[in-house]
Amino acid sequence: MILLDGKQTAADIKDEIALEVDKIRLNKGKIPHLAAIIVGADGASLTYVNSKVKACKKVGFNSSLIELPIDITEEQLLHEVHLLNKDVTIDGYIVQLPLPDHIDEDLILMAVDPNKDVDGFHPTNVGKMTLELPTFLPATPYGIMELLERYKIETSGKDVVVIGRSHIVGRPMSILLSQKREYGNATVTLVHSRTKNIKEITKKADIIVVALGVAEFLTGDMVKKGVTIIDVGITRLEDKTRKRGYRLVGDVHFESVSKKASYITPVPGGVGPMTIAMLLKNTLLANRKFNS
Ligand code: GUN
Repeated sequence: MILLDGKQTAADIKDEIALEVDKIRLNKGKIPHLAAIIVGADGASLTYVNSKVKACKKVGFNSSLIELPIDITEEQLLHEVHLLNKDVTIDGYIVQLPLPDHIDEDLILMAVDPNKDVDGFHPTNVGKMTLELPTFLPATPYGIMELLERYKIETSGKDVVVIGRSHIVGRPMSILLSQKREYGNATVTLVHSRTKNIKEITKKADIIVVALGVAEFLTGDMVKKGVTIIDVGITRLEDKTRKRGYRLVGDVHFESVSKKASYITPVPGGVGPMTIAMLLKNTLLANRKFNS
């Protein structure tokens, strides 16, 4: 069994990006600038956003964190989005999800300028991705494609099962893996909460991407020997033996599945760091689009 080391691969990608930033600096070009909006102070979301901001510093990008109160109105949030659309110093930005229940998430995401939508969530960019046109790819599926490619894991003609149909991970993942791109060409089955007998389907898979948000959902008896496992889940489970009071687990029961897998991503240190690296890559792309 080989661990797919997302932490190391993301560090390599960040080094590559940092070299690009050095070149921009030498040529007196505009330094990439990523902004992030966060509404409310949910612990996990704040941790993710802070990691994104920290990663910007690491590669030499500028970054701005816009922290807004949990009771902000939809109108006020739309105003903040419009300000970022107009701000020529910002190359790309994200609105961290989830948003509070009183705000229409779709409405906000649709207000983001597609040219600055480094999350790749705007319908224009989702459409372009689906049609295999150049655009910002959503960072988590993009990171998974990059991880598979850098570890030279064949996807062409393989049976892939994606578990979960979220707009952020499962759905775009199923699209990218099945596409007629240089990398992709897999036979993809997307399974979800209404699928009958998931185990029958997962047992035949060469590659399984689990993005369900259910701790330790995929167990050893559900997979075949030699499978490649990509675990997108990250759940905090209470653990009084740990100093911080919890431990992080994925959607995969690591102990039983890793015994049968050829390749598997750990949690943490697998998909998570890749998501951040690809967000930076998209920001570099946004910077190039505006400055070429
Ligand atoms: N919440 C969970 N994942 C993501 C992501 O990739 N982008 C944003 N904006 N919010 C998220």
